[in-house]
Amino acid sequence: MTTPVTVTVTGAAGQIGYALLFRIASGQLLGPDTPVSLRLLEIPPGVKAAEGTAMELDDCAFGLLAGVDVFDDPTAGFDGTSIALLVGARPRGPGMERSDLLEANGGIFAPQGAAINAGAAEDVRVLVVGNPANTNALIAAAHAPDVPDDRFTAMTRLDHNRALSQLAARTGTAVTDIENVTIWGNHSATQYPDISHASVAGRPALEVVDDPAWVTDSFIPTVAERGAAIIDARGSSSAASAANAAIDHLHDWTHGTPESSWTSAGVVSDGSYGVPEGLISSFPVRSSGGRWQIVPDLEIDDFSRGRIDASVAELVEERDAVRRLGLL
Ligand code: NAI
Repeated sequence: MTTPVTVTVTGAAGQIGYALLFRIASGQLLGPDTPVSLRLLEIPPGVKAAEGTAMELDDCAFGLLAGVDVFDDPTAGFDGTSIALLVGARPRGPGMERSDLLEANGGIFAPQGAAINAGAAEDVRVLVVGNPANTNALIAAAHAPDVPDDRFTAMTRLDHNRALSQLAARTGTAVTDIENVTIWGNHSATQYPDISHASVAGRPALEVVDDPAWVTDSFIPTVAERGAAIIDARGSSSAASAANAAIDHLHDWTHGTPESSWTSAGVVSDGSYGVPEGLISSFPVRSSGGRWQIVPDLEIDDFSRGRIDASVAELVEERDAVRRLGLL
């Protein structure tokens, strides 16, 4: 049997963890020929529930699942891991200011970055799902000085998938007819879902839609505020769709994206499109050879410029706040 790939999932007892682990174990992340060994990381109050999930994973008798172990210690949880899904995070509690939230999450993502640095596999790839995802990824990367920065990414694929779905519904097409949608900036309400380079069945999306007001007044806010709409409808936040997006992100990262199109991911900025170097911001990206590349040289019109700058300004504020807290 091929050597199993070690995959660590934090927040394994949470709702995204529950929607994610069975898909990873069934081969949807790494494909039908790659066995996986799962390491589930929780905080002590979540360990018992994670052990229950591990029992259910055993009960599925997945042919690709080489083992499941549960940990409450990050160093053990990330030992030998090649794929780290950082899902567990501290949610915003009542009366919590943004700086409190950033500090509480710094207390999670700094030690996890250090544990990845200490013991993860040489080829480790990290996807941060737990919010505020971009800045949590920045903190984790800063505490893993021996791991290249481009191995730390933040998830904006759910926003990307939401944009595909909204545009397909509006144009009466299939999501597979749509190419080159982009999510720019932060995974927050300031994100900019951009269809100015997108095509629908080979035609420019803006021409097919032919309604600029729909783009600004309906499409952009619907995508950016979809998370809140799901909470309103379901009574809890997106879980299966978030797990699905995490699978999409990591599958594309490890298997590559088609030449013809691109996707969106929070990756470390190289200064492209005026985004300060070192920030983890969402960009249009392609993957090949196990690396994300920012799609170069797109023309950015004034409207897009303003929207990108606004979301990036929020990322700069978050970075400066965690710097002040001594987390960077
Ligand atoms: P949840 O509350 O159901 O589960 C979170 C789990 O993380 C809990 O079991 C908790 O015990 C665990 N946890 C907390 N601190 C931990 C630590 N230090 N180490 C290991 N585990 C820890 O939350 P849910 O719904 O699974 O969401 C998880 C995160 O994903 C949240 O921050 C949420 O905002 C975020 N999210 C991000 C999305 C994105 O598109 N980037 C989309 C949807 C959710």
